Amino acid sequence: MSRLIVVSNRVAVPSRKGGATAGGLAVALNDVLAQRGGLWFGWSGRIGQRQKKASLVTQGNVTYAVCDLSQEDHQEYYNGFANRTLWPLLHYRLDLTEFARKDLAGYRSVNSYFADLLVEHIGPDDLIWIHDYHLIPLAEALRERGVTNRIGYFQHIPWPSLDIFLALPNHAEIGRALTACDLVGFQTRKDADNFGSYLVEEAGAFASGRRLFAVGGRALRIGVYPVGIDRLGFARTAARAARSRFIQEVGESLGGRTMMIGVDRLDYSKGLTQRLDAFERMLQMAPDWRTHVTFLQITPKSRADIPEYAAMQRALGEAAGRINGQYGEVSWTPIRYINRSYNRSELAGLYRLAHVGVVTPLRDGMNLVAKEYVASQDPDDPGVLVLSRFAGAASVLDGALLVNPYDIDGTAAAYVRALMMPLEERKARWRRMWQGLATTDIGGWADRFLSDLEEVDRDLPNRGFPLGNGHGSVII
Ligand code: UDP
Ligand code: G6P
Repeated sequence: MSRLIVVSNRVAVPSRKGGATAGGLAVALNDVLAQRGGLWFGWSGRIGQRQKKASLVTQGNVTYAVCDLSQEDHQEYYNGFANRTLWPLLHYRLDLTEFARKDLAGYRSVNSYFADLLVEHIGPDDLIWIHDYHLIPLAEALRERGVTNRIGYFQHIPWPSLDIFLALPNHAEIGRALTACDLVGFQTRKDADNFGSYLVEEAGAFASGRRLFAVGGRALRIGVYPVGIDRLGFARTAARAARSRFIQEVGESLGGRTMMIGVDRLDYSKGLTQRLDAFERMLQMAPDWRTHVTFLQITPKSRADIPEYAAMQRALGEAAGRINGQYGEVSWTPIRYINRSYNRSELAGLYRLAHVGVVTPLRDGMNLVAKEYVASQDPDDPGVLVLSRFAGAASVLDGALLVNPYDIDGTAAAYVRALMMPLEERKARWRRMWQGLATTDIGGWADRFLSDLEEVDRDLPNRGFPLGNGHGSVII
């Protein structure tokens, strides 16, 4: 088996504190590397001086190669182009998308910096797997440095429809950069189709069917690989955690009330204010539930230097305060709103304790929390998942109550339905979702992507492609 080199901005570098990692990418890659071993390259999470060489730490079969970013890099690349331009745009939020040439220059420059350091670690047979929107130009930068290895890229977040993507002033540069890869993977069919349309309509690609393209003299395959979780591991952890002192204490603190739970980074894509508004609407519509249900919202802060995130933090704190002030009693607080992160075992126990899991993003690539909630349930008395139709997970978890998070009344009605759902229906819905999780197990996700990457046929003439660049031609 070829050695695996994983590259991502965020790296779950082992820390002595063993802190929780909030973010689906790091959680998923941590599991993959623990199973397969390899090298994991990316940002150290520190701001300092740029380095001449990456710092190496080896633990078990994984070597972590990380580097610091300068203050300017952090501002322009991470806070700027990655998280104020690409993140909102790729989540369909043109209203929040900011574009500055200075940030774009910083984004390009950090990708070149990563390429310079990474190239030293690449052996002839290594498979290179790049992750997420921070590193879209990296494959091209590696090719410019003479790297001929197979390179795959996986997009953890959505890829929007053509009209949205064309609003990016340098869309041609960003869209075409991915054509330096051999395989580009997406979470859902819709994301892959959106990128495929872009390639044909804007990047001059020839398409052979829906997933194979010839562009810039190279073959490019695209595919759909919904990221999963270790469902059996989660189920075991949840059953064990349910007996822990921590979960017993939380259970006692509820005083016999039913618990609903939400777990999300503090991000405007997660639909958090709409979610709390729907809870308030439920307390208005179904007053019998007042004092009988507690909503636990765990929301670690994220990207707090970015103005839109700071505004979101204020809005959410205000919403929780308003609802607690309006409906709370001396002996009952409707919403427990917490801004810290919890580790996997604590979360698994909390998911199992909650009768309703609420996952209502306005847009999300996949959403692992939805899958973790399902995997953590007691099969004999499972909870109900209320899930946004705009999360990638909705394509796998068809036993959830699907909602449109913009519809506050509809979401409030789904909360009531979830709270009242009879045991037999809960079990039937849960069984469907548990089966659904089996099809996207975390190990299977990586195996499928990497075996496709190894098998991509790089030979254009054998595929019957015409030579040269096409403009919108499709050869079926
Ligand atoms: N997470 C965690 N501790 C927390 C909050 C979240 O470990 O306090 C994890 C959570 O278990 C999940 C990931 O962070 O695995 C979040 O992934 P998801 O795909 O739901 O959303 P993202 O943050 O990647 O947008
Ligand atoms: C999402 C993105 C990841 C990112 C994570 C946490 O899952 O897809 O690329 O790592 O959010 O965000 P952060 O900015 O803290 O890395």
